[in-house]
Amino acid sequence: MKIAGVILAAGLGKRMNSSLPKVLHELSGATMLHHVLKTLHNLRLQQIVVVTGKHFKETKDSIIQTNPPTPSLTPLIPPLPRGELKGLKGLLRTQNSGLIFMRQKEAKGTGDALSRALPSLRGFRGTVLVVNGDTPLITRETLRKFLDLHEKKRDVVSVLSFISREPGSYGRIIRNGSGDIVSIIEDRDATPYQKRIREVNSGVYAIKPAGLRLLKGIELNKSKGEYYLTDIIAVASGRGIKAGAYCIGSEDEFIGINTPEELRKARELMRDRITKEWMNKGVIFMDTSSIFISSDVTIGKGTVIYPNVHLEGNTKVGRGCTIYPNVRIRNCVIGNGAVIKDSTLIEDSFVKERALVGPFAHIRPGSEIGAGAKIGNFVEIKKSVIGSGTKASHLSYLGDAKIGKNVNIGAGMITCNYDGYKKHLAVIEDNVFVGSDSQLIAPVKIGKGAYIGAGSTITEDVPPGSLALSRVQQRNIKGWALKRQLRVKSDKLKVERKRKS
Ligand code: UD1
Ligand code: CA
Repeated sequence: MKIAGVILAAGLGKRMNSSLPKVLHELSGATMLHHVLKTLHNLRLQQIVVVTGKHFKETKDSIIQTNPPTPSLTPLIPPLPRGELKGLKGLLRTQNSGLIFMRQKEAKGTGDALSRALPSLRGFRGTVLVVNGDTPLITRETLRKFLDLHEKKRDVVSVLSFISREPGSYGRIIRNGSGDIVSIIEDRDATPYQKRIREVNSGVYAIKPAGLRLLKGIELNKSKGEYYLTDIIAVASGRGIKAGAYCIGSEDEFIGINTPEELRKARELMRDRITKEWMNKGVIFMDTSSIFISSDVTIGKGTVIYPNVHLEGNTKVGRGCTIYPNVRIRNCVIGNGAVIKDSTLIEDSFVKERALVGPFAHIRPGSEIGAGAKIGNFVEIKKSVIGSGTKASHLSYLGDAKIGKNVNIGAGMITCNYDGYKKHLAVIEDNVFVGSDSQLIAPVKIGKGAYIGAGSTITEDVPPGSLALSRVQQRNIKGWALKRQLRVKSDKLKVERKRKS
């Protein structure tokens, strides 16, 4: 069965009351459109067409510019489009991909939107699967089941329906005495009797080429001033063309997001779906209600996650890790058995197995924390490699540094990596001991096994095995404090005598 997908995403989204295009609002770390695209992509369709309108460029860019953060991490949607878009009048094609963006200049309704997709499907002889861009929770399994039913029943037009607890703004499925669908009536056009129908339209359709020709028969809906795609059913049944409605899947899958409140609800549903999936795979959550996990994150078995943890982007958490409260990790790989303590932020970095990071640590992009390394309270690391077993336990800034194995970084040590114009590298080789409150003025290299005395400012390379000291030698003046005390006392007496005389 040859299938092409069309995503309708050109609506104005007025009910969102936001300057951001509706389908670009996010849930679980990706836009609504991204979720729908990913689901259709997983169905391995021949081609996917996105119909977009006023926000054509923003919408297109949101998909094209989704790049992986690091080469070893998987991209958000692996084989989806990359690279330049070729401009052909009215028809834009991404290079080497089955993704096409079509423009609906004026939002004249869902029926008109589908017509705008058709020039890009000229010559395509299969079934067209139409999905609204504002229904991000739809699953691949339900769509597959629906497409199979569409084929089996030999419909020209099929629609996916569901039973809604609160049919609200959804189109109602109208069936005749034999149970066949004859039309879809929008809530605003429905009679009080029709409003009570709880079987509603999900906005998912499967249409054969003969069905696409029916689009021309759709008339303008005068009350809204739009061409409703839903009217394709009435046109079909009026002409004796076979249409079917299949009530499959659960309501939670089909939530259509029109308002901020519906977006919040969809976010909760998606969060529950994601946490449930990971719990089934052996992840332990102390409290799921405050957790944020992006849909592209993976988590290993036996990992324990405390409340208010955010795992974003392409983050991959290994097996048997512990992530304590208030931690945000974005686009990182966390090795097996790593422990991330409270209130820590880690971005675009690698944390290797058994490493211990936090509490209150900040790991900035481009860093690698070695196996079994320890990064403690108030330590900031930027674009640095920290070797295995190395410890920076308190109050440090390590930027543009290459630090070897089993190094001890004393409390308060900092790398001075920036000279006001350029960034420079500090290299600390294996087994070095850096005393507390030292500064390394980069570029500088500390050789293997060297010692840096506490409070030193290191401006020159230190040979392996040496001790470097740059502070002033200490002087002890015996009895100084006692003498001072006596002097202060006698001064006080003098002042008092003067006052009395
Ligand atoms: C639509 C259906 C309704 C169904 C519901 C399911 C119609 C007329 N109604 O209602 O029966 O129950 O979805 O969620 O189709 N769009 C365009 N161009 C336009 C207008 C809309 O591309 O001119 C896109 C929107 O971006 C959106 C989708 O089509 O992704 C649906 O439009 P929307 O206005 O949200 O329709 P609903 O009122 O929700
Ligand atoms: Ca909608």
